[in-house]
Amino acid sequence: MRMIKTIGVLTSGGDAPGMNAAIRAVVRSATDRKCKVIGIRRGYWGLIESDFEPHHSRTVGGIINRGGTILRTVRCPEFKAKQYRERAYKNIMAAGLDALVVIGGNGSATAANVIHREMGLPVAVVPASIDNDVYGTEDTVGFDTAVNTAVEAVDKIRDTATSHERIFVVEVMGRHNGFIALEVALGCGAEAVLVPEIPYHLQQVCWTLMRGHKRGKFSSIIIMAEGAGASQQIVQQIKKITRLRVRLSVLGYIQRGGSPTAHSRLLAARLGNAAVRNIMAGYKSHLAGIMKGQIVTVPLQRVATKRKRIDRSIYTLTNQMAQ
Ligand code: F6P
Repeated sequence: MRMIKTIGVLTSGGDAPGMNAAIRAVVRSATDRKCKVIGIRRGYWGLIESDFEPHHSRTVGGIINRGGTILRTVRCPEFKAKQYRERAYKNIMAAGLDALVVIGGNGSATAANVIHREMGLPVAVVPASIDNDVYGTEDTVGFDTAVNTAVEAVDKIRDTATSHERIFVVEVMGRHNGFIALEVALGCGAEAVLVPEIPYHLQQVCWTLMRGHKRGKFSSIIIMAEGAGASQQIVQQIKKITRLRVRLSVLGYIQRGGSPTAHSRLLAARLGNAAVRNIMAGYKSHLAGIMKGQIVTVPLQRVATKRKRIDRSIYTLTNQMAQ
């Protein structure tokens, strides 16, 4: 088995609170084992451009509580093209990287799997994404922080909604899935939740709102994932059907920023450490995830080809609680 003496680490895709804590965990777990660490700036683009910087215990001091990523990140569609990947492979070899840790979401894991397949480099993925849509892990670094940020924002919106007796549609992130929307909806006591995975009838949603209004509900909150439809149009339709006062609030990028919660930091520390330990133990292509509170290793081939499903019981419970 090839000795692992130098590990590369990068953050990729949409940033997530706790990525810095994960970088810190990777660097310190590696240096603890006398292994050198090269940080790659701007995700996969940094591999293509050879944008590397050495890291050690001190360079990752004071970052555990900081949002964003000190390594920075980009979305890198170029990496889908073979000619760019070949440039990246040359740079990986020139820098003497024996393994790579990728901190990122779905797309980042897919790209990591391709690197291992094409060049045989050992790769590990630390799932980090506010979307929590990575197969093989029940939780991703940053998800808890994003949900808390959104719940706090919706609590504030609820205040003004109640004062003005309004309905609010609050759009949260989630282009392809409703993980954030479901947890935010249940956590803030929303009257309805719309997610891309579950078809809905707006007419029915409106009946629920009107019934509530007749029973003396002064405000209603509908949480919708951005992938669940065009929010502006949905607001117009609800106005038309209910004849009530309806407003839209799009939470947007505030969900990606801010200091990570304790939960996100702990997860980052555990998974970052597991990724390095597993590489040292000879794992070639895996995701360090968490299931039922326990750390698990999942082959990247599975992560790249399977889709994580939402928990529909949260949807049912949200509706049941909205009386
Ligand atoms: O990080 C994931 C995500 O937040 C999605 O929920 C969202 O649709 C997307 O990123 C938007 O990110 P960007 O504008 O950076 O591509």
